[in-house]
Amino acid sequence: MAGEWGQEVPGSRDKPVSFDTSVAHVARVYDYWLGGKDNFAADRAAGDKAIQAFPNISLSARANRAYQARAVRFLAGEAGIRQFLDIGTGIPTVNHTHQVAQSAAPECRVVYVDNDPVVLSHARALLASHPAGATDYLDADLRDPQKILDGAVRLLDFSRPVAVMLMAILQHIDDEHDPRAIVATLMGAVPPGSYLALSHPASDIDAEAMARMAGVLNQMMAEKVAFRDRAAVSGFFGGLELVEPGLVQASKWRPASEMEASSPAALWAGVARKK
Ligand SMILES: C[S@@+](CC[C@H](N)C(=O)[O-])C[C@H]1O[C@@H](n2cnc3c(N)ncnc32)[C@H](O)[C@@H]1O
Repeated sequence: MAGEWGQEVPGSRDKPVSFDTSVAHVARVYDYWLGGKDNFAADRAAGDKAIQAFPNISLSARANRAYQARAVRFLAGEAGIRQFLDIGTGIPTVNHTHQVAQSAAPECRVVYVDNDPVVLSHARALLASHPAGATDYLDADLRDPQKILDGAVRLLDFSRPVAVMLMAILQHIDDEHDPRAIVATLMGAVPPGSYLALSHPASDIDAEAMARMAGVLNQMMAEKVAFRDRAAVSGFFGGLELVEPGLVQASKWRPASEMEASSPAALWAGVARKK
């Protein structure tokens, strides 16, 4: 499903996709927290319960989007990256990866991945690339990283650096599914000079409220969550070199203003280079 600006993308717009609206799903709950319209009553009910448990969740979700935009700007700018693999991309909102990357370098190529049918139904918005670059969408699960790598070669050249993005997704991979091995498989497939950009909801920032929210989400949402502490999140960067300022609260990663820096983001965030 590769697409360029103004080009018809067969199957990406009108392909019928079915989804269960009776149970909350993370892509739609997150859309609700961000003020989007692609959510249903069950998503809003879970989202509201989560807000009661952790009143800063909407600000935290926004801070995560702002961090993501800053990280992509750094990658396409200072780091010179032209290829992105954005896994767990979410329902299209503002500042999607290709928009930010292509505003720095129009030739950037982005492969989006998600396993949610609602995200799939919106794939066309993610495929509206600048004509100098290109985007693609894969309906795939992070628990099968090899399938993602096999699909990404349609657009990405794995002999050149790639930025692997895992923004607010690893909390859905419990330890039983060995998320460190999944990250290692992805980073093993990209050459030196590639990057890992990651954010992860924290169990040790605003710990009590985050634990309450995890309890609510694990009762009401189809995808379960495992929030992690800073030490556990830093384990995902094994063998990689974190760029400044290291693994920090998402709002503290190269904030553009005092206001951004002071956002109560309950996520750890970092960008690291493969040597
Ligand atoms: C909290 S949202 C984050 C969206 C976006 N990355 C961001 O940070 O703004 C998590 C996304 O990951 C997707 N997701 C969750 N588990 C997944 C899995 N096992 N494989 C692929 N996508 C998954 C969800 O469908 C959702 O769109």
